[in-house]
Formats: sequence, structure tokens, C-alpha cells
Amino acid sequence: MEDAELEGKIMEVARMIVNARRVAALTGAGISTESGIPDFRGPAGLWKRVDPSIATIDYFLENPDKYWEFHIGLVSSAMAARPNAAHIALAELESIGRLDCVITQNIDGLHQKAGNKNVIELHGTLATDRCMGCGKRYSWEEVNKIIKDGGLPPRCPACGSIIRPDVVLFNEQLPAGALNKAFRCSMECDLMLVLGSSLTVMPAAYLPETAKSHGAKVIILNMEPTAMDYIADVIIFGKLGEVLPKIVSYVRKMVSKS
Ligand code: APR
Ligand code: ZN
Repeated sequence: MEDAELEGKIMEVARMIVNARRVAALTGAGISTESGIPDFRGPAGLWKRVDPSIATIDYFLENPDKYWEFHIGLVSSAMAARPNAAHIALAELESIGRLDCVITQNIDGLHQKAGNKNVIELHGTLATDRCMGCGKRYSWEEVNKIIKDGGLPPRCPACGSIIRPDVVLFNEQLPAGALNKAFRCSMECDLMLVLGSSLTVMPAAYLPETAKSHGAKVIILNMEPTAMDYIADVIIFGKLGEVLPKIVSYVRKMVSKS
């Protein structure tokens, strides 16, 4: 994309954010790649190296120890990661009152680490796990200690049942509360920013269409085309860590002038 054209689009998106009544952001793995966490379907995506069937509930139930070996890799990269410039820009957008909610498909907790308060985690979180028998919730740190003491899969000290991750595995229902909030946010916003998602996994990928059908404008910022580019009012191809901070700095200038 030519620099002048890109600059023009960046300013147009900033103006749309300033003029919007309620802004929602839907984020995907692409917003965390510049923090060192691989996405799933991009050029260096995880599913290009690992068979995604490992992340199904069926695989977990049949091979909990092997699933946990995979999961520990996810947790390690997320725990080592720091929010990047895109996360920080999104947190600033919320702090200057120009972002109502972040609906994220990510499980890395980086939006919260960056300072966003209203984060809806559609696919759960790597930060906690829960016992499949008694439902007791554990922090990752506690589970890590249980694993060090007793090996894989981790078992609940209270009842002996296997502990499962608090992430949504493929072929599982999404948490009803989070899903409800996400659809409500999408129906009530008049601007949705879609940031770093291929928009290939339902029901998250329905959210931009839901926003659009309720009268919202949809902006897609991504490095590659997505499955939903046809509904976007503005598309910017670029790296989120470069584009989003530029948008937010224009928003800050426009808001301070008004
Ligand atoms: N800047 C902009 N876009 C980027 C960047 C970046 N720095 N890095 C990657 N991308 C883009 C990729 O080109 C890709 O189109 O982000 C998109 C990420 O898409 P996916 O890897 O499919 O991730 P996501 O859409 O979040 O996947 C949805 O699928 O595997 C499941 O549960 C998992 O939540 C995940 C869901
Ligand atoms: Zn238990």
C-alpha cells in the first residue's frame, strides 16, 4: 500500500473512531505476533507446524498428558510475552474513552497486561485451569507446581481428577457469558475494529457481520486478506504494531483539538 494512501486511510480510521458513539475491537492472534507469540494461520502460523487436532476436546480426553505437553508450550510463550505497541495503543484508546470493549479470541492475557479493563475472552485464558471432577479452579502457577511434583496430566490434589485448561478447545461450546457480552457489544457499537484475525473461526467471525447488520461501520486491520474483507468499510493491510499506534496518535490529536 502506497505511503500516501496508507496515511490517508490511517487518518480516515482515526476520524471514524473520534466520531463514533461506541467503539468495539475484535482481536485475533495477529495482534500478539509482535510480542513473540505465533499466530495460527499466518505465514509462520502454529497450525502450519502442528496438527490442530491436538487442540480438540476429543484429543484432550483421550491423551491428556500429550495435550498438556502442547499446552505447556503455549503457556510458556504467553507468560514470557510483553504487550507490544498494538496492545498499548488499544489500552490508550480505552483510557481516553474512545474504546468500549475488547472482544478477544486470544488466550494470552496481553490486553489486560497492557491495561485494558473491559476485555471479553471468547476462547478462555491460559492463566487458570480447573478440575474436571470437583471444578476447583487453579492458577497456572499452582498447576505448574502440581506437574513438577506429580507429572502429567496434572491431577487435582483435592479429589484426584484430571485438571483441564481454562481454554476453549475445538468442538467445545464457548463460555455463554462471554459470548453473550460479545454479541451485545457488537450489536451496540457503531464502529468495530477487527485487528489481527483471519476471521475463519465461528462464532467469533460472526461478530463483524453482527455489528454491520446493526448499522456499524467495520474496519479490518490485518497483514493478509481475511475471510470477511467483503463487509469492511475500510481495510488497512499492514503490521498492527506500526499502524495502530499511528491511528491512536491521530485520535489523540483530534480529541485534544475538539
Ligand atoms: N499485524 C497484522 N496482522 C497480523 C500480524 C501483525 N503483526 N501478525 C499476523 N497477522 C495476521 C495474519 O496474517 C492472520 O491473517 O493475523 C491473522 C491471524 O489469523 P489466525 O492465525 O487465524 O488467528 P485468529 O484469527 O485469532 O484465529 C482464531 O483459531 O486456532 C483458533 O482458537 C484459536 O483463537 C484462535 C482462532
Ligand atoms: Zn478436584
